[in-house]
Amino acid sequence: MKKSSLVILISGSGSNLQAIINAINNHQLNAEIKTVISNQVTAKGLDRAAGEGITTHVVDHRSYPSRELFDQAMMQIIDPLKPDLVILAGFMRILGNAFIEHYQHRLINIHPSLLPKYKGLNTHQKALENKDKIHGASVHYVGIELDSGPVVIQTEVPVRAIDTAATLAARVLTEEHKIFPLAIEMHTEGRIKFKDGQLLLDGQKLTEPLIWKNNQLTQVKVTD
Ligand code: GRF
Repeated sequence: MKKSSLVILISGSGSNLQAIINAINNHQLNAEIKTVISNQVTAKGLDRAAGEGITTHVVDHRSYPSRELFDQAMMQIIDPLKPDLVILAGFMRILGNAFIEHYQHRLINIHPSLLPKYKGLNTHQKALENKDKIHGASVHYVGIELDSGPVVIQTEVPVRAIDTAATLAARVLTEEHKIFPLAIEMHTEGRIKFKDGQLLLDGQKLTEPLIWKNNQLTQVKVTD
């Protein structure tokens, strides 16, 4: 079967990028990373990509007078590669509507909270302040509003009494590395489609996200 082509956008450490690379290397994903784009020249993820022989680009948002021109610069790199999926793996810039609409239904993000809770930044701190017992992360297709769009998989992570934002973030990140490749696999295997804006998994409407818990997908609610 033909390999799916992926473009991955990062801003930092790139541990989720590494999880995707690992999933390709161990044949969980039948895919090829066409390029990695970072808006930060110092992003450690660039070294991870280069170490795997993956082409990298830096598109520094500070070099562009507007969001639109920054987005367009990335699109000029991405479009000739004809990716099946554009992956935001810790990409910390807000994208404009034109970019999001251009890649609609093939633009996926991981966000460190149980969406719709805690959109935006400092999600772990917010979960602690609200004394949440369960926190987590969500993989979702990107909608126009920040951190919106249909969620495919969520991982649930128990909050411990002794947790700090850093310890909680670290435990959530470990789980992110499992659910992101899983959701990407569903996309590259053609199991996810969109009809009238509704996400279909294996031909059925996904009304609730799949839940990853105790190392397995434990809750699958789909309806006709
Ligand atoms: C992750 O927690 C991701 O959910 C958030 O930024 C972090 C990126 O980590 N959007 P990494 O760069 O993949 O290590």
